[in-house]
Amino acid sequence: MFEQPSPDLASVIGAIHRRQAEQDDGIARFARDVHAGLSSRPRVLDSKYLYDSRGSELFEQICVQPEYYPTRTEAAILRKRSGEIAQQTGPVTVVELGAGTSAKTEHLLRAYHSADCLHGYVAVDVSDSALRKGRETIHAALPEVDSHMLCATYDAAFSAVGQLGRTMLVFLGSTIGNFPPEAMDEFFSQVAESLGRGEFFLLGVDLHKETTVLEAAYNDAKGVTAAFTLNLFARMNRELGADIDLSAVQHRAHYNVERRQIEICAEFTRPQAVHVQPLGVVHGIAAGERIWTEVSRKFTIEQLSLHVAPFGLTTRRVFSDDSDRYALVLFERTLP
Ligand code: AVI
Repeated sequence: MFEQPSPDLASVIGAIHRRQAEQDDGIARFARDVHAGLSSRPRVLDSKYLYDSRGSELFEQICVQPEYYPTRTEAAILRKRSGEIAQQTGPVTVVELGAGTSAKTEHLLRAYHSADCLHGYVAVDVSDSALRKGRETIHAALPEVDSHMLCATYDAAFSAVGQLGRTMLVFLGSTIGNFPPEAMDEFFSQVAESLGRGEFFLLGVDLHKETTVLEAAYNDAKGVTAAFTLNLFARMNRELGADIDLSAVQHRAHYNVERRQIEICAEFTRPQAVHVQPLGVVHGIAAGERIWTEVSRKFTIEQLSLHVAPFGLTTRRVFSDDSDRYALVLFERTLP
């Protein structure tokens, strides 16, 4: 039932890298997106720009803050339950979207490898530095696993899934919660379209819970999350010559219970002229104005299962921690 010709992962990945390099236009695109975001009301910045190399370092530090439970809770679930996940899916190529440094995935890969269920591993991320770290970790821990790092957007990965043999797409860290609603639906639709019937999608989601626990997680005492938000403005200074006085920028994060989402913004305590030098434009920001940088949605399993069913993704198993703070949901691609 699971017999598949072993795909040549290296040549598929190589072709995607070449296509991706042709599409990249780094700073010009950043400048256009910042200009569009600052021109809109409310003003917004695309949260993907939080993750330059400094931002990725800061995010790693957030993940080990005592208040930020999602990472360690997800890791504990993976450590405990990966064997059961492998049993449920059988042999697959694991394709991880937004893999970062692949730190938690090691548990999953180890369980799949020992169950003889791992055809190969493809880590996909836009951060080259995180992927390089991940490659070292995975090669050191599991040298016999056919693993590949793909520095690309998810779109590029989706186009490759059909060529990688029987696949389980993995999307950890509750990153899905950072997507705007339309982007989330587009993502589910791409996941479903890229998978064949009987293939799998493993999704990590942070669950709805008390406001105090959630707000503490995004306002850590050490100020690492605040530094993460501020780094986006520091990046605009570095790459776009924005000339923002960072001492006038304050991180704010609160839980909107009705919408079940953490909402993060930068509040300006003094007026600032924000330059977007590559485009020769300036945006005047008033004292007290807010620029929204991130939304982090929280889920219930019932709502999520109902939401993804029309895409042809059927909930097969839910793996959560004892306090139901976080869950890994295993979906199977079925008919829509
Ligand atoms: C990556 N993502 C799931 C994190 C979250 O919890 O929404 C990003 C983050 N932003 C601030 N802290 C963590």
